Amino acid sequence: VVRTIKTVRELRRALAGHKPNGRVGFVPTMGYLHDGHLALVKASRARCNTTVVSIFVNPAQFGPKEDLSVYPRDFPRDERLCREADVDIIFAPGAEEVYRSGFDTFVEPGAPAQPLCGPFRPGHFRGVTTVVCKLFNMVQPDLAFFGQKDFQQCAVVRRMVTDLNLPIEIVTVPTVRDPDGLAMSSRNRYLSAPERSSALSISRGLFAAKAVFQAGERDSIRLLSLARQTIEIDELQYLEIVDAETLTPATSELTRPAAICVAGYVGSTRLIDNILLDTT
Ligand code: PAJ
Repeated sequence: VVRTIKTVRELRRALAGHKPNGRVGFVPTMGYLHDGHLALVKASRARCNTTVVSIFVNPAQFGPKEDLSVYPRDFPRDERLCREADVDIIFAPGAEEVYRSGFDTFVEPGAPAQPLCGPFRPGHFRGVTTVVCKLFNMVQPDLAFFGQKDFQQCAVVRRMVTDLNLPIEIVTVPTVRDPDGLAMSSRNRYLSAPERSSALSISRGLFAAKAVFQAGERDSIRLLSLARQTIEIDELQYLEIVDAETLTPATSELTRPAAICVAGYVGSTRLIDNILLDTT
């Protein structure tokens, strides 16, 4: 049976009963759960004895013009999905519990926060590293699970864990997609039917480039222009091939694992996606 906990004090008490039983796995989320989140839960269940899911819409990672106030929420549904997925503990603190009055310390993310979404979402990754570091300290997990969908977030979190010596193994779980290819996202619910079909051109473009890559194409410019021809959305913010580890621009001839990363707007909904180009 899943137990829902709202305070750090209660969380610590509950976890004290679980930690002696073995590994604690942690899946941080902002709720409105879908099969992408549930794949992280499954990965945690496979490797850990206890699985904790946090549900917290983190104000610190939303810009002043972003969708914090309208971010989709449905706690009863999330709770049911967690129960069905055999989650042990849902940690769903209020904003006052996480950011107590006088809160004034932040975790400054490193170089992986600079490219891609960095310039388009100033302060976003600083909000992510700050809350993830806080949640790590609250839950003190052995392993933590993140989705490849948020490729840059994975790189930023891994850099933080290494640089701050956090004793947590970070596991990246492959992106879960709808049958038509669209990467699952809580934000997909904003899309109208025509917007959704426009959004589909993103994954189509990525898959087209990946197919050509797998057939042997290593020229990053050619791979990008192929993806670019397929993607038809209202505002393309970036379409780049980066080194899969450092997120620095890939060399024109791909020789190391890389990723094609894309972000942009369909109507007023900002979408991101990426695909790995594995040269090994
Ligand atoms: P959220 O967008 O709710 O995502 C929670 C986790 O689910 C992230 O690790 C994300 O990469 C993963 N995820 C989302 N869609 C996915 C998909 N289609 N396939 C696989 N994994 C997917 O990311 C956040 O919340 C926040 O930034 C958070 C890390 C919780 C910090 O506030």
